Amino acid sequence: MEKDNSGKPKPVILTCAQPTGSLTLGNYLGAIRNWSEMLDEHECYFGIVDLHAITTPSQPAVLRQNVFECIAQYIACGLDPQKCHQFVQSHVMGHTELAWVLTCNTPIGELQRMTQFKDKAAKLGFKVSENTGNDDLKFEHQGARAQASINAGLLCYPVLMAADILLYNADLVPVGEDQRQHLELCRDLAQRFNHQYSETFTIPEPYVPKTGARIMSLADPTRKMSKSDENERATLYILDEPDRIRKKIGSAVTDSGSEIKAVSDKPGVLNLLTIYSSLSGKPIPEIEEHFLGKGYGELKSELSEIIAESLEPVRAKYKDLIQDKAYLKSVLAEGADAAQKRAYKILSKVYRKVGFPERAK
Ligand code: AMP
Ligand code: TRP
Repeated sequence: MEKDNSGKPKPVILTCAQPTGSLTLGNYLGAIRNWSEMLDEHECYFGIVDLHAITTPSQPAVLRQNVFECIAQYIACGLDPQKCHQFVQSHVMGHTELAWVLTCNTPIGELQRMTQFKDKAAKLGFKVSENTGNDDLKFEHQGARAQASINAGLLCYPVLMAADILLYNADLVPVGEDQRQHLELCRDLAQRFNHQYSETFTIPEPYVPKTGARIMSLADPTRKMSKSDENERATLYILDEPDRIRKKIGSAVTDSGSEIKAVSDKPGVLNLLTIYSSLSGKPIPEIEEHFLGKGYGELKSELSEIIAESLEPVRAKYKDLIQDKAYLKSVLAEGADAAQKRAYKILSKVYRKVGFPERAK
């Protein structure tokens, strides 16, 4: 347990991410940069969830490499391993064990109703229709696109996520909007367990950073910038080289008119100003004034340089780190040790409460 200067235990923050490719400017400005500012006041655990990654088709060599790229990007973005515990989910015993106990206390209907499950099933070619008269949902094959079946892991995904959180008795969980429903399920499962077996789990709260900016797609500024966007020009990645940054910002959708003002009916310009402000630290009115009488071209070229410059140290640090697998492995080993220590205590308590007999020493 980590304590603050007055000897009080620090609140525990836990969040996890799937090991998927490159992080976006949205991840950086909306999440990771803010996380790095809370490391001193909290006991922090950051998990790379490879067990979750295999709920959808994945290739072993790619998955393995992605874990290293993910941890290298986190550290490059400012998650200092001296101040937080970064671990790989499959290195810590207890995630799947607790998930199993929780699975046995989760009605199937609650999982079938999860929005993300329905979305992912739809992507696999299934249409999920509700209101079939009972708790079950109906899965209709949508022709040739449909695969043989939806695996049970995809359905149980949110239970594993609940286990990730409850295994550490996390107080706060930073998550994006799309994960709110999963966090709500986690809270329900924790409350139900506490009620059935006596007080065991901390009920986690969502953590919304105060300063997190919401970065929108460069191609459609009414939608969030996302790594799964099919349009190449829509998303800036933190590892993009300056040339790519210039091209993407150059082709970013702006609005009719020519005034550089952060107003809601100019979502394209508003987005560019938000990025400018987040990276430069300057308030938006000051930036508007700076661009008074100037055109979108000038905004875009200045912004491209600011982005390229701000990401340059991240890119440089990443390049060094990704060469140094031994160092990355040592960070993950330390992280797994610390996580395991905490996880083991909580899992043992759960096993006892459920009635599993203790093994003789
Ligand atoms: P995801 O990439 O959706 O798994 O999100 C990981 C974290 O990054 C979450 O905390 C999200 O809220 C944050 N995030 C993702 N995209 C954006 C964005 N476009 N703007 C701000 N925050 C974002
Ligand atoms: N489901 C989350 C996502 O896709 C990742 C995740 C897994 C997670 N376990 C978690 C997030 C625990 C927060 C806490 O983004």
